[in-house]
Amino acid sequence: MERLVRRLEEDRSLLEPDRLRERLEALDRLDASLAFLPDVSEGVPGVGLKDAELSVRARAVCARLEAANSELYKAIRGEIQLGRGPEALLRWVQASSVEAGGGAAASGVGYDTLDELVSGVLQFEEPDAGDVAREPEMVFYQPTPARHIFDLIGGDLIGLGGLGAEDVVVDLGSGMGHVPLLVSICTGASSVGIELEAAYVERARQCAQRLNVKKATFFCEDARVADLSRGTVFYLYTPFVGSILRDVLDLLRQEAANRRIRICTYGPCTAVVAEEPWLEAAKAPEMDWIVLFRSRD
Ligand SMILES: C[S@@+](CC[C@H](N)C(=O)[O-])C[C@H]1O[C@@H](n2cnc3c(N)ncnc32)[C@H](O)[C@@H]1O
Repeated sequence: MERLVRRLEEDRSLLEPDRLRERLEALDRLDASLAFLPDVSEGVPGVGLKDAELSVRARAVCARLEAANSELYKAIRGEIQLGRGPEALLRWVQASSVEAGGGAAASGVGYDTLDELVSGVLQFEEPDAGDVAREPEMVFYQPTPARHIFDLIGGDLIGLGGLGAEDVVVDLGSGMGHVPLLVSICTGASSVGIELEAAYVERARQCAQRLNVKKATFFCEDARVADLSRGTVFYLYTPFVGSILRDVLDLLRQEAANRRIRICTYGPCTAVVAEEPWLEAAKAPEMDWIVLFRSRD
């Protein structure tokens, strides 16, 4: 721990904007170590002088690194507000991804430095307590890990042409709106979030308004009664299971009777969607990644 703190104290270049990934990784390591060191500002009796000093130094390093990140997030938010989101955000997405540090992107759930970047940029306020009476088949809120969202946005997954200005991406069960917000910040597409929980919808709308993202709109409603007629791409991070999923897939099938649609799934609902005869998977479904399906002609 002492060596880590000394190295971080000496490396002043760590405060330069470009060292975001290293800062995020350093903060993770410091956080983990600080769990074992008391916060002496709270006056813990019986703490040795050495530990107290180290705790103060480590917290000072954290504060400096966090201040550098806050400056950067503020600058990125400013660019997004001016409509320069794709260049402003995607550049940092590449720079802060695990792969940029020589690692391999992890499959499955689990959050990383990219999620910290996204949360620093979107800056959601804590939502009020939810008041929806949930049916047992409705799944609780959990955001899609950011690396999967950027995989979706990046174009590889959505397939030829990626997401264009003519696309409307509908997130069914959109929670606080990470997917619609990032889609509309980083691509030419419009997006719609449909979410049952009013407190989440409120936070998503607030974020869109503060970032001046006009192409992302949010509706507080049950996906079973939502207007799906504008959507070209539908995203489901297993928002519901059983009969609700069945009902919504039937609605999507009706939409597909009029036009070709794409459906992207993540999590356990992928296995159910893969059984739909009117859809074909772009490639063999992998449960730990977002899977793309296209409606058949
Ligand atoms: C696993 S979270 C996914 C959140 C978001 N799509 C994302 O990927 O970040 C599922 C969300 O679906 C919402 N949900 C569950 N049943 C719903 C329904 N019938 N209609 C609309 N939203 C629903 C939940 O409130 C929850 O926020």
